[in-house]
Amino acid sequence: MVSPDQSPLQTTMAKPSFPPRNKHTSLLTDIFLFVGGSITALLLIWSFWSFFSPTQIQNFPSPSSFSQPNIKPQDNNDPPNPTFYDDPNLSYSIEKPIKNWDEKRRIWLSHHPSFATGVRERILVVTGSQPSACRNPIGDHLLLRFFKNKVDYCRIHGYDIFYNNALFHPKMTTFWAKLPVVRSAMIAHPESEWIWWVDSDAAFTDMEFKLPLDRYQNHNLIVHGWAHLVYDVKSWVSLNAGIFLIRNCQWSMDFINVWASMGPQTPDFDKWSEIQRSTLPDKLFPKSDDQSGLVYLLLKGKDTWANKIYLESEFYFEGYWEEIVGTLDNITAKYVEIERGVRGLRRRHAEIVSESYAEMREPYLKDAGNGKGSWRRPFITHFTGCQPCSGNHNQRYSAKSCWNGMHKVLNFADNQVLRSYGLKRCDLLDSSLTPLPFDSWAG
Ligand SMILES: *[C@@H]1O[C@H](CO)[C@@H](O)[C@H](O)[C@H]1NC(C)=O
Ligand SMILES: *[C@@H]1O[C@H](CO)[C@@H](O)[C@H](O)[C@H]1NC(C)=O
Repeated sequence: MVSPDQSPLQTTMAKPSFPPRNKHTSLLTDIFLFVGGSITALLLIWSFWSFFSPTQIQNFPSPSSFSQPNIKPQDNNDPPNPTFYDDPNLSYSIEKPIKNWDEKRRIWLSHHPSFATGVRERILVVTGSQPSACRNPIGDHLLLRFFKNKVDYCRIHGYDIFYNNALFHPKMTTFWAKLPVVRSAMIAHPESEWIWWVDSDAAFTDMEFKLPLDRYQNHNLIVHGWAHLVYDVKSWVSLNAGIFLIRNCQWSMDFINVWASMGPQTPDFDKWSEIQRSTLPDKLFPKSDDQSGLVYLLLKGKDTWANKIYLESEFYFEGYWEEIVGTLDNITAKYVEIERGVRGLRRRHAEIVSESYAEMREPYLKDAGNGKGSWRRPFITHFTGCQPCSGNHNQRYSAKSCWNGMHKVLNFADNQVLRSYGLKRCDLLDSSLTPLPFDSWAG
């Protein structure tokens, strides 16, 4: 069965739509009930009902670098010195490997010294959705709100963002579509050290939190995942490929080549489907998919790939919405309590200095914990299994719980933004705004 969303013309970038999911799910439920055990229970929750995405957190990284926002310089000059852009043989196509990328990028940066400054911390967020209108009548509105959320986060932290809604490779549809986009973004943005792919159905829900880049110094790809589930369980939901941070370097060029070689554009697609199924026992989706491909490469490419891939599990690098939505009210109450006691945090300020307020808040969050059971704002909330655009939400949830969950999460994030504009929504499910009085706590 092929769902309309998987046709080349109507593709959801973010997530596959698996019509057989319902069937598989009941089968899976039976299997898991039979097998029992906490890991399988977790897998059940993670996998089908949330095509991607678990969560389990311990200690939070103290935000290492509240660096200045707007690290992007304002120099638009392009000197005549030749760079890789002048090489007619260099191709943007994912089917034509690029060699010596580190050197090429270094030369470009040497001719653009203002971009070389601060390059290690520069991040480009890349996201996108399908080329055509959403089938879900409120789908495009939801996607707009998800995009607004990402734009807000990027503005607050001085990151650039690229939204794409075209198929960069005609055969790389659905979840494969992001790979050519990310690769092209690396070429288009030599000034960015990192490309951060964020699925369209994920929202930043802690607008203050920043990725702990220091921790990733020796790694080139960061995903939310769990080593024991990768290596011991060999589960295709041991990590989530819907959100990842990838370094703009030759390693990543090579990795994307290998990763993409399991995709539908290659004659080996069926072979890879077979290999993935036989390597990952819990993979029920028959075709080769990017997430299984990533797990496979971790398992089989220990020295080549795995040693440069960081499985982040200490905070909500992305978190499963169903686990998060119900906690937002209590989290809000905790933040209100802090602000009641700390006048500095209630001070009105320009949006552009928001990062320093995050730093001021941090000491009051040291007991908040992270992830499940924590009262820290979850960093990213991911609506796996809901599919805002197609509307093909997983049958385990009602449409209402998906769409209400999204409104609630997006409003929770938006309240953090609106504060700089003197407004808030008192009720996360009600769009009406209330002015924020002087010296008041926003929550
Ligand atoms: C491009 O490739 C062709 C054929 O491989 C080669 O002859 C030519 O020198 C290359 N051009 C550049 C600028 O590297
Ligand atoms: C929210 O806090 C109340 C009061 O402390 C508690 O009873 C309730 O279980 C909490 N709800 C959630 C979802 O954690």
